[in-house]
Amino acid sequence: MVAKEKHDRVGATSATQSRLLLAAQRKDLPIASAERQLIAEVSQHDTLIVIGETGSGKTTQLPQFLRAAGFCKGGKVVGVTQPRRVAAVSVAARVAQEMGMELGKEVGYSIRFEDRTGPETVVKYMTDGLLLREALLDPLLARYSVIVVDEAHERTLHTDILLGLLKAVQARRSGADVSKASLADSKTSAPDANGHATNASTYGNEGTHHGKGWRRGNADVSNGGGGRLEPLRVVVMSATLDAAQFCEFFGGAKAVYVQGRQFPVEVLYAAQPEADYLDAVLITVFQIHLEEDTGDVLVFLTGQEEIEAMERLVKERAARLPEGAQRVTVAPIYSAMPADQQMRVFQPAPPGTRKVILATNIAETSLTLPGVRYVVDPGLVKARTYNPRAGIEALAVVPISKAQARQRSGRAGREAPGKCYRLYTEAAFEALEDATVPEIKRCNLAGVVLQLKALGIDNVAQFDFMDKPPRGAIVKSLEQLFALGALTAEGRLSAPTGVQMARFPLEPLYSRAVLTSARMGCLDEMITAVAMLSVEGVFYVPKEKKSEANAAKKRFVSPEGDHVTLVQVFRAYLEEGAKEDRNGANGNSAGKKRKRTGAAAWCHANFVNGRSLSKAVDVYRQLRDHCAGLGLPASSCGQDWTALRRGLAAGFFLNAAKRQPDGTYRAIANGRTVSIHPSSVLFGQAPECVVYNELVRTSRDYMRDLTRIDPAWLPELAPQFYGLNGATANRH
Ligand code: CDP
Ligand code: MG
Repeated sequence: MVAKEKHDRVGATSATQSRLLLAAQRKDLPIASAERQLIAEVSQHDTLIVIGETGSGKTTQLPQFLRAAGFCKGGKVVGVTQPRRVAAVSVAARVAQEMGMELGKEVGYSIRFEDRTGPETVVKYMTDGLLLREALLDPLLARYSVIVVDEAHERTLHTDILLGLLKAVQARRSGADVSKASLADSKTSAPDANGHATNASTYGNEGTHHGKGWRRGNADVSNGGGGRLEPLRVVVMSATLDAAQFCEFFGGAKAVYVQGRQFPVEVLYAAQPEADYLDAVLITVFQIHLEEDTGDVLVFLTGQEEIEAMERLVKERAARLPEGAQRVTVAPIYSAMPADQQMRVFQPAPPGTRKVILATNIAETSLTLPGVRYVVDPGLVKARTYNPRAGIEALAVVPISKAQARQRSGRAGREAPGKCYRLYTEAAFEALEDATVPEIKRCNLAGVVLQLKALGIDNVAQFDFMDKPPRGAIVKSLEQLFALGALTAEGRLSAPTGVQMARFPLEPLYSRAVLTSARMGCLDEMITAVAMLSVEGVFYVPKEKKSEANAAKKRFVSPEGDHVTLVQVFRAYLEEGAKEDRNGANGNSAGKKRKRTGAAAWCHANFVNGRSLSKAVDVYRQLRDHCAGLGLPASSCGQDWTALRRGLAAGFFLNAAKRQPDGTYRAIANGRTVSIHPSSVLFGQAPECVVYNELVRTSRDYMRDLTRIDPAWLPELAPQFYGLNGATANRH
């Protein structure tokens, strides 16, 4: 049965055949038989909880059921939120394909820095964070008939906030008066970007569409009318059985269980702890390849860089396989992966070839990858950690929970019995936490607190949280927002700074840095740096060409630090692109498989990741448009790196660190000991004082993405924080 399905998938070439095949696959999904029941439940209840095993068809099918049942009449939208960008993109593409439509028309997706929706879009996949942002402009979410909160079990920060917000919106929309857009108890409504109070009901704005990118002005249409909106229906979907908390949160909402399909999975443990898990991954993958039956291998890794490194290792090993052995193909998937390349993980490997999928925990529940029979699980995940007392947020690779380990092994048994190789001991498994702690309990809350304030919710502690964040974390985030100038002394959103910051699709520290740079004459360089920081893996260093790659990188390295270095790479890339345009680029710049020319050849020769760069250019342009939309005057400091460094110091003053006599660094705001990450161009340079963007925790707290600054600038540029009166920094 499995083999036949695979064969069909390969053999189906004509469009009709593949349509028929897709229709058959849809009918075969466990959720298909529950369509009528699900629609009846959604029609009868404002809120429904849907529980179903990964792969049962929740994400791809339920929105289609809703559309077929008339929930998109009159241009109303069924919105589906995902914690991860990749999932939003790939699922939207799949659903468009199933419906036989072009992506971006009736079915589309919208994620930060990438919008593929149009005026006809009625089934819209998006990230949870993006919907939160939309709520700023459309507080009643008036264009949506149903919001499906998918992957709720992941309990990301944005999902948690969204659940609270949706509850409030439901109450508002069911109430008689929808003319008050604000969700606040108070009479005040959110001020607009210029600080004017608006009373922005979007009722009557039906059918109009938020523009692409940043120009969503039409949602601000004032409409004093006390019209009535349809109630907002909310569907919360989860892949774990524990629905009680969701039901309770929504006042005893009903839960529907979709019967899943799961074959037995044999779980194997490491006999003793692995010294080097990447090495263990490589060995295990090839052991499976050489000894086990057909079926694809899914490996869980922690991030893009690790995946790219492993991809090269697997390819190297695969090239040395004995003659006649089955071939191996590698398919990576991670969140920042460009949409056009994601599809490779879904394509079946050619006959006689085994596919090795290298994925982040995206493949745990968000994406169902067909064909997998072997799972390799090192038991780790990259997660945000936060120490509210110190106000330190760091990215760290941490052990997964038992629930996650079970989800991972489950991925091996979707289509046939499978095996899961846990690269840790059984005792280590037993020692894992039962469930993952919701992100809201381990995150810096500054970003969401700012958004809640912008929604008019002034008393953040009173917000209807499903799990309350630690009080200290709220206090710390308020302090931080105040230090950034986003809040007034009374704790209200400041205008225009706070209001503008809330509208940026960036974390507060970054949006503040951009606003500041506009005043300091280096806006262009700052948004370039921010755009470059938003993509991962700008440089790549293949093992076999290490010295060439490092020599290439040296050409861009600036003694001022990583930001200037990134700006120089970006500009050199743009320059190559411009040359290519002038030379006509063989007249087929859209062609994918052309010979490397211009920018592509330049990237190759310089060991720069062309995909990351082209994405960075895209983000840069969007940020530039966004700044223009806010009325920030364009400015550039050219090659005056001191100006940019001062801009960075003024923007990231909360992340300043000073060298200590022993060579370590002390984060000035909280007194913690930190070090320079080896990936930084300042590693080994021992600058006296730096600002950094991010802390990464491994054996110690490492600062990443840094720039050398003059410590004397801090009291000058951030007197509210470093000045004699502000004195916050001097407490330590
Ligand atoms: O959301 P849930 O985990 O319940 O399932 P789903 O994501 O809706 O997936 C349903 C089926 O569609 C699975 O069998 C997937 O393998 C398939 N699918 C696919 O082949 N390609 C995609 N891009 C997405 C889903
Ligand atoms: Mg799903």
